[in-house]
Order: sequence, then C-alpha cells, then structure tokens
Amino acid sequence: MGKKVLVVGQGGREHALVWKLAQSPQVDKIYAAPGNPGMAQLAQCVNIAASDVPGLLDFAQQEKIDLTVVGPEDPLMNGIVDAFKEKDLKIFGPTAKAAQLEGSKVFSKELMRKYNIPTADYQVFDDPEAAAAFACSFTDRGQPVVIKADGLAAGKGVIIAASSQEACQAVNEIMREKVFGEAGRRIVVEEFLQGEEVSVFALADGHRAVFLVAAQDHKRVFDNDLGPNTGGMGAYTHPPIYTQAVHEQVDREILQATVQAMAKENCPYQGVLYAGLMITPNGPKVLEFNARFGDPETQVIMPVIEGDLLPLLEAAAGGDLSSVEIKVRPDYCVCVVLASGGYPGTYQKGYPITGLENLAESTLVFHAGTALQNGQLVTGGGRVMALVTQADSMENALAAVYTQIKHVDFTGMHYRTDIGRRALNRGR
Ligand code: AMP
Ligand code: GLY
Repeated sequence: MGKKVLVVGQGGREHALVWKLAQSPQVDKIYAAPGNPGMAQLAQCVNIAASDVPGLLDFAQQEKIDLTVVGPEDPLMNGIVDAFKEKDLKIFGPTAKAAQLEGSKVFSKELMRKYNIPTADYQVFDDPEAAAAFACSFTDRGQPVVIKADGLAAGKGVIIAASSQEACQAVNEIMREKVFGEAGRRIVVEEFLQGEEVSVFALADGHRAVFLVAAQDHKRVFDNDLGPNTGGMGAYTHPPIYTQAVHEQVDREILQATVQAMAKENCPYQGVLYAGLMITPNGPKVLEFNARFGDPETQVIMPVIEGDLLPLLEAAAGGDLSSVEIKVRPDYCVCVVLASGGYPGTYQKGYPITGLENLAESTLVFHAGTALQNGQLVTGGGRVMALVTQADSMENALAAVYTQIKHVDFTGMHYRTDIGRRALNRGR
C-alpha cells in the first residue's frame, strides 16, 4: 500500500513540496490543508486552516496519514509537532520548544553566544532607555545599527537605523508603542553586518544536520533591491558567493554546531534548519534561523533535489539521517514571482490569469495567491505565482524564465527583472 502524506499550508513553498512528493513512487495520495488551485492538480485540498492544529490532528488520525509536512512557521510555534507526536503520528518539523530558534531572536542569539556560533555582536534589552543608549553608541560612531523585536513579527520586526534619531524611533515603536505587540517586549540590538546574504538549508534529525542546498532570495519589491521588503520576489540555487570553502565553514561552525547545541540544551532539533547568513569579509555569520523551508527558495530547491524526497523527510522526522544520501543537481534553477499590482501594500484580487496554457512544458508554475472563480483562475493574493526554469547555465535559466513570463498576464501584474543578476555579475 502506498503512503498518505499531508502537506500543511497554501503558498508557493507548499505547492513545490507537493510537486516533489507527488513524484515519489512510495506516495499514493497527497492531501493539502488548505492548499490552493495549483496544488489541487496533484493533491486533494481539504478545507482546514494551517493554523488549526486540532483540526489537522483530527484529520491526520482519521485518514491515517503516514507523514505530515508543515510549510509555515505558525503551526510549528503553536505546537503542531508536539500534538502529532503525542498521538504517535509522524510529522516533519521541530517541536514548539525547538522552533524557538526562529520564534525568539533572544533564544537564538543566546544559543549562538553560548556555543560560539558566528553571529553579529548584540545585547538584549527589556528597558527602552538602555536599549536606545546602546543603539546610539553605534550611530554616534557613524555606524548603522540593527534593532530586532524578539518574537515573530511577520518579517517586519527588524529595523536598520542609520542615525540616532532613527534608532530611538525604532526602540520607541517596538517597546513603547508595541507595534508588534508582545513580540516587542524584549529587543535585540546588534551590530550591522556588511556582505551578501545567502539562505542555507539543511535537514536535521536531532543529532546532526545534512546540508541540502544554498539559495539566494530577493526580498525587496523592485529591481536593484529598491522599495519595501516583501515575502520574496524570486530566488536561485547555488549562489556563487557560497563557495566550497564557505560551505565547509558553515557546515562545521553553524549547521552541525547549532544542531549539537540544541541537543545539549535538551531541545533536539528536527526538521529543516534554514540559516539566513551574511557572508562578511570575516566569514559567514548568522542573521537569523528559520524552522521551516523558505519561500520562494523552496520553489528552486525542490527541482534540483534528485530522487525521492519522502525518505529524506521520514528519516529526519524519525530521528536518524545517518544512512541517507542527498543528491542535488548542480543545475541553475531560477524562480520569478509574479505579484499583484500594489503588493506589498494594498492590492485588488479577482483578476483573471491568462496564458498559462502557452508556457513551455519545461516551465514549472507554482501557485501562491490564486483562486478559482466559476472555473476561471484568478488572482487571490499578493504573491500570485512563481515561474521556475532550470538550465546548465545561469544565463540560459534566466533567458528561459523571462521569455516564458511574457506568456502570462493579469491586471496589475509586476515582477522583478533582475533576479539572479548578482550571480551573473560574479561571472557565473
Ligand atoms: P532577520 O529577520 O533577522 O533575518 O532580518 C531581516 C533582514 O534584515 C535580513 O534578511 C537582513 O537583510 C537584515 N539584517 C538583519 N540583521 C542584520 C545585521 N546584523 N546586519 C545587516 N543586516 C541585517
Ligand atoms: N525567503 C524568506 C523566508 O522564507 O523567510
């Protein structure tokens, strides 16, 4: 009998996971909760919100799900893994306690300090006056400073201040005005790091980390990294800045060291370890950890993983990755996100999406904010979908994706035209 898998979530990341798991010869049936119209082509979508842990638990028990794979961070923080494990259901992801690596900046910074894991110098504050004084000790020397709310703030809890005035304003907003609520009760004030950012993904089984792949995200909405931050406007695999020498250091000093540190703290870490790194002139340093796959990085990672994903996730969830071998193709895989007009600010929904039928067969389409209205595919979110291509050179992968994009249209559609340019400029 084939296996039943449940994928929790509704974005492009989860569509890419469903797409990869659907290729597993061991998988008979995939459910997506709540899923989206793209996932519905490969999985049965069930109307349970990703945040509804009791609802998901009931469903998994009823359907005798063999493995549950959690996409977003919220259910992890809310203890979905603890709840499933208590009922002997296999689930891929960290427990709520281990997910603090993402959920609390104070927790992750203190872990890194205690175990000498390279990261920016910092101090933690629960008093706004002391926090502002420390922040100004950087800006008074003409250095920018980074101010971070401790808890989850939908990716908005990090402020880079260039002047004392900006630093005081950031501390006030987070700690006194509580714009991020309780997430801002404590803050981390840290040194500003120069360099290039890389997202590094590994699987962890509680004892060790097994490197998967590195990718680069594009967080700003406009070309040349201008405009406000978004959930991510595109990504590509194997960034040239992530050399073999950098990798060896990252693997030893960050990935293995973090999983071992968590085990020592009685907080064994299983699931994806996503390290957001700055590659500085003094080596790689951790900006943040995430307890889940990246979005849109997953949309380029899944296509380059060779073979069956299911046994890899099962081995991590089962606590033993020692005998798995992960093979990743060196191909350049590129993803460009098509967004609604106005995103990341306000935007309209419900515009028909046209032209998907004209895409080359080799182009992958991962849905994020789409919906069906009387059988017509329409826009239903800020990031609508991603087009993904791969090739043996970055130039060819980029040429393909930007040629294919011309086929697709919806009112207000916008996207970045410079995804992967940094890699090309490094002579890839
Ligand atoms: P985080 O959520 O901690 O990854 O921060 C979000 C973004 O803020 C990162 O992707 C970086 O672009 C930036 N950032 C965070 N910490 C620093 C730092 N210490 N130095 C420079 N940039 C930073
Ligand atoms: N790509 C950024 C994130 O998933 O947090």
